[in-house]
Amino acid sequence: MPNPVRQRILISGASAGLGQGMARRFAAMGRDLALAARRTDRLEALQQELRAAHPGIRVEVAGMDVDDAGSVAAVVPELAARLGGLDRVVVNAGIGKGGSVGTGHAAANRAVLHTNVLGSHAQCEAAMELFRAQNSGHLVLISSVASIRGMRDTRTAYGASKAALNSLAEGIRSDVHGTPIAVSTILPGYIATDINVGRRGPFTVDLDTGVAALTAAIEREPVRAYVPGLPWRPISALLRVLPLPVVRRVT
Ligand SMILES: NC(=O)c1ccc[n+]([C@@H]2O[C@H](COP(=O)([O-])OP(=O)(O)OC[C@H]3O[C@@H](n4cnc5c(N)ncnc54)[C@H](OP(=O)(O)O)[C@@H]3O)[C@@H](O)[C@H]2O)c1
Repeated sequence: MPNPVRQRILISGASAGLGQGMARRFAAMGRDLALAARRTDRLEALQQELRAAHPGIRVEVAGMDVDDAGSVAAVVPELAARLGGLDRVVVNAGIGKGGSVGTGHAAANRAVLHTNVLGSHAQCEAAMELFRAQNSGHLVLISSVASIRGMRDTRTAYGASKAALNSLAEGIRSDVHGTPIAVSTILPGYIATDINVGRRGPFTVDLDTGVAALTAAIEREPVRAYVPGLPWRPISALLRVLPLPVVRRVT
């Protein structure tokens, strides 16, 4: 059975990087979009660009701070109402910063955990309420290959936050198993965006390449996907079993 076309898509973190790139790709596929982030000036510019390039689609935008659970609980249903419903929610907004635990980076590490874990959780609550009510929908969580093993230094809190998302996604998937609601965990490798300026890892791909692989993976609606599949699927399998002294040298 082919996957249903997910016509109305909400993307958080659509003001930059992967979210903005996914918005451009899904717009080119004729999908209607609800775009959220804090920098509404950037969302409005993207809205104008997409409406001009694809006059047949609907593009709605709204300011949303995922650190504020109340904002998420209000904005997601508001955007859904403006589009007449949602068929897919891409939980994408996230940050990456911080440093080794116990070295004076507590605030930055805490911010990463707050935004990436609690912010994503708030979006899942809002999305799943809609999907459960309509008994359909595709929930997509943007995790990271940094979630596969504990990571040192600037990626310790970040990797932990993304590991939490993997578990959150699997729990939700288990809850709705056997229903028409799909849940995908997407683990990108390094894709050049603002989030990793100055700390890009091995096998970094440019934004276009990364976003093309990302949207193709989301469209397949897998339980879990590594993006791009090569080299990250085999590397992820290796990372799982390598001893920590090797992992810490290559990450
Ligand atoms: N690039 C990579 O290599 C890579 C790899 C694996 C996973 N990821 C994940 O992919 C997602 C997107 O990252 P990116 O690379 O596109 O980074 P980016 O270019 O820095 O974009 C991050 C996006 O998240 C939004 N955001 C951050 N904090 C937010 C908040 N409190 N409320 C609402 N929106 C917020 C930002 O919008 P505003 O600042 O306007 O709010 C921005 O649109 C993240 O979850 C990241 O962890 C990225």
